[in-house]
Amino acid sequence: MKQIHYISGILIFLFINLHLFNHLYGLFGVEEHIELMNTLRVFYRNIIVESILLLAILIQVISGVKLFLIKKKVAKTFFEKLQLWSGVYLAFFFVFHLGAVFIGRLILNLDTNVYFGVAGLNTFPHYLFFAPYYGLAIISFFGHISSIHRMKVKSILLEVKPSQQAYIILFSGIILSFILLYGLTNGFNGIEIPTEYHIVIGK
Ligand code: HEM
Repeated sequence: MKQIHYISGILIFLFINLHLFNHLYGLFGVEEHIELMNTLRVFYRNIIVESILLLAILIQVISGVKLFLIKKKVAKTFFEKLQLWSGVYLAFFFVFHLGAVFIGRLILNLDTNVYFGVAGLNTFPHYLFFAPYYGLAIISFFGHISSIHRMKVKSILLEVKPSQQAYIILFSGIILSFILLYGLTNGFNGIEIPTEYHIVIGK
């Protein structure tokens, strides 16, 4: 089960890097973000790649919950605990985030572009939920990677110990989450959401 979890994790890791890079690119503006997403969609939103990605996520969530139940009593160190709890949050986030994207696409018939993703993040009081919801997902992603790095990497690169490297990965995630939230809210000034997306925020 550990091996299946590891392999599906690598596939998901590749997609999430592209996805977060797309959000980071949103710092240049919403139009630029959408333009890049349209290019990336050619690769990930075709029936083959998307089916593999969704299957990998399903495997990841189920195997992850099972591993959590087995390991929760034996996790002792900071990184062992971080691996478990960041995994639990990621499983929760995947279910709700993908559920929302597919409701948007199949039931609301919306183009699930950045406006769909950030409608809640740019509306009061919704952002009180969405800012920690997205922020914690990014931190959990980096937290999960940092704990795997701590356990797998034994050699010392650049004279920085593996545990220090793991902390660097974790703190990079925390910084990136603030940068992304800054970009996805137009420097905290708010992005104007087109009327067809108002249904997402209950207007
Ligand atoms: C930073 C805040 C985030 C926002 C605003 C956001 C928004 C979106 C949007 C709008 C889509 C639909 C993409 C499309 O239609 O092409 C999407 C898809 C997706 N997101 Fe996110 N996302 C965020 C963070 C994350 C994180 C942190 C993860 C993983 C840990 C993640 C995982 C996914 C996955 C797996 C998909 C499905 C791809 C597909 O099958 O089409 N997202 N997200």
